[in-house]
Amino acid sequence: MHRFDNQTVLVTGGTGGQGSSHVRAFHAEGANVIIGGTDAGRGTAIADELGSRARFIRFDVTDENSWSSAVATAEEAFGAVDVLVNNAGVQNPPALIEDTDEVTWSRILRTNLTGTFLGVKAVAPALRRAGGGVIVNIASTMSMGGTALYAPYVASKWAVRGLTRTAALELGRDHIRVNTIHPGVIATRFINEPAVGATAAIADFYSPEPFAVPRLGEPADVTRLLLFLTSAEASFITGAEYVIDGGLLLGPALAAETA
Ligand SMILES: NC(=O)c1ccc[n+]([C@@H]2O[C@H](COP(=O)([O-])OP(=O)(O)OC[C@H]3O[C@@H](n4cnc5c(N)ncnc54)[C@H](O)[C@@H]3O)[C@@H](O)[C@H]2O)c1
Repeated sequence: MHRFDNQTVLVTGGTGGQGSSHVRAFHAEGANVIIGGTDAGRGTAIADELGSRARFIRFDVTDENSWSSAVATAEEAFGAVDVLVNNAGVQNPPALIEDTDEVTWSRILRTNLTGTFLGVKAVAPALRRAGGGVIVNIASTMSMGGTALYAPYVASKWAVRGLTRTAALELGRDHIRVNTIHPGVIATRFINEPAVGATAAIADFYSPEPFAVPRLGEPADVTRLLLFLTSAEASFITGAEYVIDGGLLLGPALAAETA
């Protein structure tokens, strides 16, 4: 008996650093998993590795028609959808607002915000058909303040907070809970690639030394919180926001020599 036996979980960006961790953990906990993503090679490899309770569906979260067919495919394969994790996201290359072109602005907003909106819109009816369910939207600690050079990303993730709270109000009576997770700095290619390229080590680019817990987050840290929020143990939690950042938002911790 596992926590997610007989449930079907759709994770967007399911081939990414955090997404693939989520997919594997839900699967290990008994769920059928739908790996949503644009990387067919990696998605198919993960699905093949996991076996009959896993499917890769190639789709871009910004495409409304693809969302409809992903939901139809999931229901056809497994009978229902019970959990949606809106995890797909993109970061902008660092630039001042004055140097940010409208194409970059729109690309980031379209994936992070519109993609999340389309996910809620497409999957809510399926969750209702299943008798209820859970949506978790992945935002960021960068949606709790300002971050110079990252205006498109910050704005997109702030907006996800408002979308989440509104969805929680609209869907609560249908037994659908909607919550947000705000990861801090998690060790995936997301951290270094947009700024300094994939070949730079994350540790060279970002030091966790000032955090109260002085390490980078791992995808598994976020996964454990996600599994709690989507489980029956969290049945009274909706419209809530969970920061998981090792204390990053608290401000700088004491330097080692003064601690
Ligand atoms: N890594 C961090 O430090 C960090 C911190 C806070 C929030 N986040 C958020 O966590 C989520 C997961 O990021 P990650 O760290 O695993 O990075 P990642 O780059 O490894 O994964 C992101 C995934 O999203 C997918 N994706 C991007 N655009 C897409 C689209 N239009 N349609 C479908 N899939 C798309 C990518 O292909 C990739 O698989 C993102 O929403 C990100 O904003 C990350």
